[in-house]
Amino acid sequence: MVTKLVDVLLLPDMQPNFGLMYDCTAVVDVLRASTTIITAIANGAVEVIPVKSIEEALEHRAKGYLVCGERGGLKPQGFDLGNSPLEYTKERILGKKICITTSNGTRALLKAHTLSRHVYIGGFVNLSALVEKLAEFEKILILCSGNEGRVSFEDSLLAGAIVSRIASNYKTEVRAENVFLSDSALIVEKLWEKFGFPNLIGTHARKLIELGFTADVEFAKRVDYYPVVPEYSEGIVRGIFSNTLR
Ligand code: MLT
Repeated sequence: MVTKLVDVLLLPDMQPNFGLMYDCTAVVDVLRASTTIITAIANGAVEVIPVKSIEEALEHRAKGYLVCGERGGLKPQGFDLGNSPLEYTKERILGKKICITTSNGTRALLKAHTLSRHVYIGGFVNLSALVEKLAEFEKILILCSGNEGRVSFEDSLLAGAIVSRIASNYKTEVRAENVFLSDSALIVEKLWEKFGFPNLIGTHARKLIELGFTADVEFAKRVDYYPVVPEYSEGIVRGIFSNTLR
């Protein structure tokens, strides 16, 4: 008996493989939006509002938000913080409200709401906490943000890690027989099996390294650094802290 369906969209505009509303979606943008949002929430940001445009983000300053994000990987003029997770320290963001706009990640988040009611944000940095949350649901979608309409190696690899954890009982490594994977879920699972660690070697990782963000790429590889799952609901991201992983 199938008790779980797992699907993966390698890009936000890809057609879902199952013609249904999913129970939950995990949005992933390993480099760097999801890693940055997870860090912001873990370090005490009270909420994060993702928006599409620079103008919308700047409008939030008057409402008391830190204005954050990137274009072309760099902090836009007039912004408080860029999109480097390492900028989102406790000292900088504890108790703060954040408005963020990024090239791909925030767009994927906005799309996710059309696919399921519950939307979570995942990175390698919160892998176990995320999987623990997703395991509560039956019809699970993983939505990769990609890179300007192109498939991202890093997002696909993380999607594979998530699928692999859901499809097997990761504590005993026993393959679960009651999980049905779409073809794209199967593809990323096989990709993850090939490497088995966050081997961030795609175009976007290389571009960030060229821009001087090597430390961000290294940080994004830290599996289970945070026991928190940001949830995106009614336009706002807030944190759910895992009790079992703390
Ligand atoms: C994005 O959302 O496109 C990325 O987070 C870009 C970046 O690495 O800053």
